[in-house]
Amino acid sequence: MRTPELAAVGIDGSPASLAGRRMGNATGRAFSRRHALGLAGLGAVYLAAGCTSVRTERGRLRPAAGGQSLREPQVIDSRAGTLEVELVAAAGVELAGLATSALGFNGSSPGPTLRVRPGDRLRVRLVNRLDQPTNLHTHGLRVSPAGNADNPFVAVEPGQTFDYLIDIPADHPAGTFWYHPHHHGTAADQVFGGLVGALVVDRGPEMPVERDLIAVVTDTTLLADGSVAAVGHMDRMAGRHGELVLVNGQHRPSIAAAPGMAQRWRIVNACASRVLSLRLAGHRLTQVAADGVFLPAPTTGDRVLLAPGNRADLVIRPEATGRFELVADPYDAGGMPMGGASAPVTLATLAVDGPAGRSAALPTELPAEPMAEGPVAARRRLTLATGMGMGMGGMSFTIDGRTFDPDRDDQTVRLGTVEEWDIVNSSPMAHPFHLHTWPFTVIADSAGGTPTGTAQDVVLVPPQSWVRLRIAFTAHPGRSVYHCHVLDHEDAGMMATIAVHA
Ligand code: C2O
Ligand code: CU
Ligand code: CU
Repeated sequence: MRTPELAAVGIDGSPASLAGRRMGNATGRAFSRRHALGLAGLGAVYLAAGCTSVRTERGRLRPAAGGQSLREPQVIDSRAGTLEVELVAAAGVELAGLATSALGFNGSSPGPTLRVRPGDRLRVRLVNRLDQPTNLHTHGLRVSPAGNADNPFVAVEPGQTFDYLIDIPADHPAGTFWYHPHHHGTAADQVFGGLVGALVVDRGPEMPVERDLIAVVTDTTLLADGSVAAVGHMDRMAGRHGELVLVNGQHRPSIAAAPGMAQRWRIVNACASRVLSLRLAGHRLTQVAADGVFLPAPTTGDRVLLAPGNRADLVIRPEATGRFELVADPYDAGGMPMGGASAPVTLATLAVDGPAGRSAALPTELPAEPMAEGPVAARRRLTLATGMGMGMGGMSFTIDGRTFDPDRDDQTVRLGTVEEWDIVNSSPMAHPFHLHTWPFTVIADSAGGTPTGTAQDVVLVPPQSWVRLRIAFTAHPGRSVYHCHVLDHEDAGMMATIAVHA
């Protein structure tokens, strides 16, 4: 094991003693110096972001008044075991009720919702009508990363097309996933530009709900001429936050419901960098799935936190008529505002009206999958760090001290084994850690949190903290990536490779 220092800390060790131990170790001095430099750098970011928002009111496209009813992207279903679709990535979509030169697939942002069943074959012809390279990633799908499947190393040049062929395993969980470009260096611009879409793995009706809807949340900033605002390196360091937060490309849409009637909301955080801390006025939130897999039982809380890339399936059953705002509160990343987002944002309004009905009660048990058991074949520690360096704006974004190199194997894993990884964030900012292809279960963290026991594919690692993941590399040999899902950080190099083979 490469991590004697972390191994010495029990999974029930208190955060304070862990922090003290880590700060007090032999590398503590370098660590705190880097920390101090990082904080100084972020202070500058914060000030810069503040100035930007003062300037924002001029030169911006004003969104149409909210309140239109929520539209859902076109659904493309598989037929007889195959979903065949051409996705044209190009500028020119309607966003927030306005004609813009933002980006979309087949003229819309989000692009069409792709709905497949376990065992299906997904054939996507990606047509690049952008002026820069792109590619396509099926976020969260447990599918091969090799060849022309979910391969993040593919580059599709402007004017070119690429045929993806992705086989969905017959035992794939049913749930909410999404797709987006993943070309290193342009991922943040393209997702912020609007290139996102939902992907649902369906096993037929599962929930006693009246409506089952997709809500893809994006953020962007539109200039008066309809173009997407360019962002400076300060915004990239903090992780850009758009001034408009949209649901299915709409500005503050309204979702109609009847009292007593349940709806399933499949919420995708497709923002390039923004953490969504969601609450619904007048309601508690009942969650049935996270990152595309069912929880063991519905959970109820006041708030659901979605890092960029995360999904939550909520079941909303309003009891009383009225209008209730779905709000994203500012997320406190350890006292450091990410991108200067400091005010609550209304995403949508739940409009409850009409005669009351009564949906059947939710099942008390859900078809969750058991956590991977078995011997732990290897333990690894990965460190996410920011520092002063050669990176953008004089700041570096690294994993284990290195920036992304597609030709280097950073982790080599034996197919068929179970591993435990400690993801350490030594930086003063939160980083959402994401691993392709192989889902993980958080089994412990430095805050002493209660593990959910279910698999996920993005975990938010707060500043100066760690999470411990259990990962089953039971299928899908090949090479893929893990990275920070603040896509600006990923583009800056906070990404690395993993090779899994027998
Ligand atoms: Cu949603 Cu590697 O990405
Ligand atoms: Cu992914
Ligand atoms: Cu990050």
